[in-house]
Amino acid sequence: MSDFRDYLQALEKAGQLVHVTKEVSPKFESAAHVRKSSDTDGPAFLFENVAGHPGWRLAAGLYGTMARLPVAFGCPMEQVVERYGAAVRAPIPPQRAAEGRCQEVVLIGDQADCGVFPVCVHSELDAGRYVTAGVMIGRDPETGILAVGLQRMQLKGPRLFGVNMPTERRVGRAALKAEERNQRFGVAVVLGAGPYVDLASQAKIPHAQPKLDVAGALAGRPIELVRCKTVDAEVPADAEIVIEGEFVPKAREPEGPFGEVAGTYGLLGNRHVFEVTAVTMRSDAMYQTALTGMPTTDNHVQGWPAICESIKRVAQHACPEVVDVHAIGPYYLAIVSIRKRLAHEARNVILSVLGATAGAPQAKYCIVVDPDVNVRDINQVLWALYTRVQPETDALIFPTMVGAPLDPSAPVHRHTSKLGFDATMPLGESRERYDRVVVPGVDQVSW
Ligand SMILES: Cc1cc2nc3c(=O)[nH]c(=O)nc-3n(C[C@H](O)[C@H](O)[C@H](O)COP(=O)(O)O)c2cc1C
Repeated sequence: MSDFRDYLQALEKAGQLVHVTKEVSPKFESAAHVRKSSDTDGPAFLFENVAGHPGWRLAAGLYGTMARLPVAFGCPMEQVVERYGAAVRAPIPPQRAAEGRCQEVVLIGDQADCGVFPVCVHSELDAGRYVTAGVMIGRDPETGILAVGLQRMQLKGPRLFGVNMPTERRVGRAALKAEERNQRFGVAVVLGAGPYVDLASQAKIPHAQPKLDVAGALAGRPIELVRCKTVDAEVPADAEIVIEGEFVPKAREPEGPFGEVAGTYGLLGNRHVFEVTAVTMRSDAMYQTALTGMPTTDNHVQGWPAICESIKRVAQHACPEVVDVHAIGPYYLAIVSIRKRLAHEARNVILSVLGATAGAPQAKYCIVVDPDVNVRDINQVLWALYTRVQPETDALIFPTMVGAPLDPSAPVHRHTSKLGFDATMPLGESRERYDRVVVPGVDQVSW
């Protein structure tokens, strides 16, 4: 079984995977394909002839457009957030397997040369080659829980990476605990784990809740795990490539710049140092990459179900009848539709969504609309802004508070002022003046 390969097949069946047999460079050219595809609702790619990496296949753009999500989830787009929520609420723990295809090839120590992989250079000012789709798995030294997250890794030598991993990240927090004990922190970085693990890696849930259980619930069965060869971690048995290694305690070295989720560059900084101890993989392994940068591309789509699930969860704290949610760009804009029963319920939703730190710290703007507005259709949302908002009373500006870490406009790092719009109709009044103009019979005509 391979969740990753099944997903490639499903994309192919949906007309969303193109095999590229001409030679393509992993420096900019593969990323340029994904960029163009993301901007034009195009396909994912399997590059079969990667310059400088004979024999390697490079999978790219696997989350390049929103159209990938119904394929990954096997359900219509409208149900994706609810499916994700169901997985968060009813997780399925993993199962242990004695062996797995991800360990058909085992390369220990000096043999584990990560330079052989088609590690790409994505954006113009990136510092170099970056592993961008590796899901990190490491055991928290205090709780014993397998911490799972996705952090970019700059390839600095055959067995050396620089990693951008803030300490609010669960792998970052686990690494900090190991560091306080003056211990090296062993982590496995998994490529080609498949959509359930990739998407669950983004879950906005408490650190005490294991993400691999969410992956199991997305798959509808336990994820099979095998023990790593050189670190105390377990990884999906059917993955393509596993890079095992250790974070060096107290070591920080320059990493970046790198084209980030906000569509601007994350700047050079002193960040974690990761030393590779082993590489294990399938005998016919494929390498997976993801593009970050201008919204919308891989990074945004891969995070979207988890972000929207968390927005929905926190919005429900304020209003029990949340109908639908959407998050745009680097998730700085949250759109929530509610069935409003109290005059100013939308204001509570705005407060909840903009204020949430565990759920949706990214949101800088929140627009609340009625259920007749499709939250995923920006024209409809703007129409609600044009016709259902009086700025004096319905626009709420909040003073500086904690916000997204990568917003370049932040006056103080990680802080921003915020803005909410109540774009719902008032209760009680005659609704006729808000009625939408409809042309009958649109569904029946064609040409
Ligand atoms: C393609 C991709 C690349 C990402 N790169 C990073 C990164 O380099 N650093 C980071 O902190 N988060 C990165 N993220 C976001 C985190 O993976 C995401 O917020 C995740 O939920 C973190 O989990 P945690 O907060 O539970 O540790 C990336 C996400 C995706 C989809």
